[in-house]
Amino acid sequence: MCNCKKFDVPGVEFSRLDSGLEIISVNNKYASAKLTTNGAHIFEFAPAGEKNLLWVSKKAYMEPGKPIRGGVPVCWPWFGSGPKEGWPGHGFVRRETWEVAEISQLPSEATRVVLKLDSDMKQFEMSEFPFTVFMIFTIGKELEMSLVMLNKGDKPVTIGCALHTYFAVSDIRKIAVSGLDKSPYLDFAAHAVSKEGNYQSGDIQITSEIDSVYYPASGATEIVDPGWGRIITVEKSGSDSTVVWNPWIEKATTMADYAPEEYTEMICVECANAKCDPRILLPGVPHQITQKIGLK
Ligand code: BG6
Repeated sequence: MCNCKKFDVPGVEFSRLDSGLEIISVNNKYASAKLTTNGAHIFEFAPAGEKNLLWVSKKAYMEPGKPIRGGVPVCWPWFGSGPKEGWPGHGFVRRETWEVAEISQLPSEATRVVLKLDSDMKQFEMSEFPFTVFMIFTIGKELEMSLVMLNKGDKPVTIGCALHTYFAVSDIRKIAVSGLDKSPYLDFAAHAVSKEGNYQSGDIQITSEIDSVYYPASGATEIVDPGWGRIITVEKSGSDSTVVWNPWIEKATTMADYAPEEYTEMICVECANAKCDPRILLPGVPHQITQKIGLK
């Protein structure tokens, strides 16, 4: 059955791009949002009267089977390069079509959208255990996103993951990311002197490529953007690692789905279980990471 008939909720519309990408648009009294079932990927969240908090590249592939450069790619069951030769970076679920499990209006009139991906629905070449994962979006004054993961097998498995959020900023060179002062971090930027042994001092200001995994870092961060006169708040739970990424000029030229000049427009602040922060999923015991974003 068409999802639009099954989930007839005020302010929710289904549409399809020519590429086949299924879009769910949400408009309620708090915000507007756009998601796609491809990768359980939200790519627009604009509180009423405000600009989109999320950034999307003008060169992003908006087609089934490809991750979108922007919004919030869901990385699972690994973070970074694949565990085996030829397996895709950041896991495979951001390339899969998820099922719409639920759409509802909450008593507060916020909208809840639940997308589900189940290993029973498809043969996953790269899944080495049976699983169900859910993405739960609550679109209200703030956007709350939870990735819930369940190991349906009979052996523990180790996973990595991230809600790889791309935030829109007025100018990367003029913003600051606060909340990570004194945090140790691994530095994966090309110019890094040493990957290990780094400590953040004060707010993060970005003047070159940044690809840092802060750990332990379980607290909230803020993106202070004087150019647009706004502060984006980023709260999280279930995650002790925060990734901050901007490719800057040189790396930008190597990405087919990213226009070189776009490095000034975005910053990724990711709620993760990355690198030093993997999680063991015991059979039948769910694990959840949640990121909540909004304006101060
Ligand atoms: C970040 C990583 O999370 O994602 C970077 O720390 C990586 O190393 C970036 O380049 C983008 O990854 P991808 O696979 O979406 O191009």
